[in-house]
Amino acid sequence: MKIAISGKGGVGKTTFTGTLARLLSDKGFTVIAVDADPDANLGSAIGFTPEQIDAIRPIAEMSDLIEERTGARPGSMGGVFKLNPQVEDIPERYALRMDHIRLLTLGRAKKGGGGCFCPEGVFLKRLLGHLILRSEEVVLLDMEAGIEHLSRGTTSHVDAFIVIVEPGTRSLQTAGEVRRMATDLGIRSILIVGNKVASPKELAFLKKHFSPEEFLGALSYDRAVIEADLKGVAPYDAGSRVVADTREILDRLLQQFQKG
Ligand SMILES: Nc1ncnc2c1ncn2[C@@H]1O[C@H](COP(=O)(O)OP(=O)(O)OP(=O)(O)O)[C@@H](O)[C@H]1O
Ligand SMILES: [Mg+2]
Repeated sequence: MKIAISGKGGVGKTTFTGTLARLLSDKGFTVIAVDADPDANLGSAIGFTPEQIDAIRPIAEMSDLIEERTGARPGSMGGVFKLNPQVEDIPERYALRMDHIRLLTLGRAKKGGGGCFCPEGVFLKRLLGHLILRSEEVVLLDMEAGIEHLSRGTTSHVDAFIVIVEPGTRSLQTAGEVRRMATDLGIRSILIVGNKVASPKELAFLKKHFSPEEFLGALSYDRAVIEADLKGVAPYDAGSRVVADTREILDRLLQQFQKG
């Protein structure tokens, strides 16, 4: 399973991805959690300690590593460098670990995103391509808000997109754009997860806009998530309702993948 989590800003992509990673790890899956948001914060949503998070170095900023593998210094443009750098060992060597979770923080390639023709851009794209092609693990990509990442093509090899939506028209618009672009990229499975659902009426609003096949379920609005976030505690460790809700969604997701 290779899943990208997408949606409008602030809808709960990182909260959901972090909780899902913990639940998958509990089930014994090896989870490669990739923080693909330049404004990285997946680490705390998974439950890594502030000390561990402080020590994270984004892959895009590991100049020596990128130079060693591509043959060129990050920040240089054009020139001659390897377009197929070796990246197979990166998750095991450079990820932060907890249980069966490996967290990779990509950071931002300096010259305009992952699509740039610069050593760090090529390196990140190859890394994502490689991660996304291995079959024995679950890869979760926590994307940056909006749809820009889709046009860079870094997610073109994923099996499924999960679009997080809040009950509200603007969030649905972003979901619609993600769905169109992901479909254009040939991604077969585009699934929806509701978040911050505070009433049956809000749940009904979401259900009305999506088919039962694509709508995996919804997470309740829970102040415990916000309280935990203020304290830097992961929703999973705070014992939020969101954990039980995510567990139900995971069961449905696994059923979907078993059906093929
Ligand atoms: N179910 C929930 N109930 C209450 N608050 C929530 C819930 N899910 C997320 N939040 C809160 O909403 C805010 C945004 O959540 P989060 O960072 O997960 O969203 P995001 O989509 O990853 O945001 P960004 O677009 O900035 O990456 C956080 O303060 C989080 O604590
Ligand atoms: Mg986020």
